[in-house]
Amino acid sequence: MTLASTDSRSIERLRGVLPDVEIAALAPLIEEIDEWKRERNAVVLAHNYMTPDIFHGVADLKGDSLALAHMAAATDADVIVMAGVHFMAETAKIVNEAKTVLIPDLRAGCSLAESITGADIRLLRERYPGVPVVTYVNTSAEVKAESDICCTSGNAVQVVESLGVDRVIFLPDQYLGRWVATQTDVDIILWEGSCEVHERFTAEELRVYRGTHPGIQIIAHPECPPDVLAEADFVGSTSGMINWVKSERPKQVVMVTECSMADNVAVETPDVEFVKPCNLCPHMKRITLENIRDSMRDMKHAVTVDPAVAGRARLAVERMLEVQV
Ligand code: 13P
Ligand code: SF4
Repeated sequence: MTLASTDSRSIERLRGVLPDVEIAALAPLIEEIDEWKRERNAVVLAHNYMTPDIFHGVADLKGDSLALAHMAAATDADVIVMAGVHFMAETAKIVNEAKTVLIPDLRAGCSLAESITGADIRLLRERYPGVPVVTYVNTSAEVKAESDICCTSGNAVQVVESLGVDRVIFLPDQYLGRWVATQTDVDIILWEGSCEVHERFTAEELRVYRGTHPGIQIIAHPECPPDVLAEADFVGSTSGMINWVKSERPKQVVMVTECSMADNVAVETPDVEFVKPCNLCPHMKRITLENIRDSMRDMKHAVTVDPAVAGRARLAVERMLEVQV
């Protein structure tokens, strides 16, 4: 491929996001990414935790896990590059099997996905016969395949209630499960997984913010422990939190979630001051402009899912996508 000089919209979108000197330094790489997108008929889907150069620059579509799953199902691009973690890429492949789905770094995992296997679910079903299994999308395809329905943090309550039962097994995130239990009368059987990023926040640090910043608003992701959520003025998915800041326009806010998200929202809400405890997700941070370029250039790393597993996992994901939020 020869690189034509481009009037790159990706670069223009970074004006006001990054300093001009940084944009100038990144411009050749971003132009290369734009060229490879055209060459491969590729689309870059980016999670809200991506750094601003990816989120505001080269991402074509962005959102929380639920939005990314819907976008992956709907795209007519030939290649999906997932600027996110492995389970998100696998979900994209499950809902759109004909597409090539690339994850720029195979090490971009998730502590929740690591916490449970398909065999664990089979044991749970033996222990609780007839109780449906609701599985957070932060899991492997093998685990989804053993599940009745998937959910994300953006639709977990609606998914649990959509089943019309009085008891569900909810896995693997114990904290999301406990939060769902506070929002519904359905009895929730928990698994002991947790997110290595969100479990680090403490109620004590949030009380310190309240003490030092009178009037500050605290908004939190439901993967946080219950005492942390008890301190929050709003609890929601990553996109739920972004929408809340855009509509409520608090003077000062703490976003109790992965650190890059505040940088991304701050660009669109200059009137809001973000007070930032900075917990980074080491898996999300594996994705860079360089490996996004490399992934399209070398067509790596293509995500594959055993067709027998993919078929069963697809049922669980598609059932979720049908639930109205
Ligand atoms: P969301 O679905 O809210 O974007 O969360 C995904 C995630 O991994 C949060 O840590
Ligand atoms: Fe997984 Fe937590 Fe990272 Fe989200 S922030 S991808 S739940 S480890």
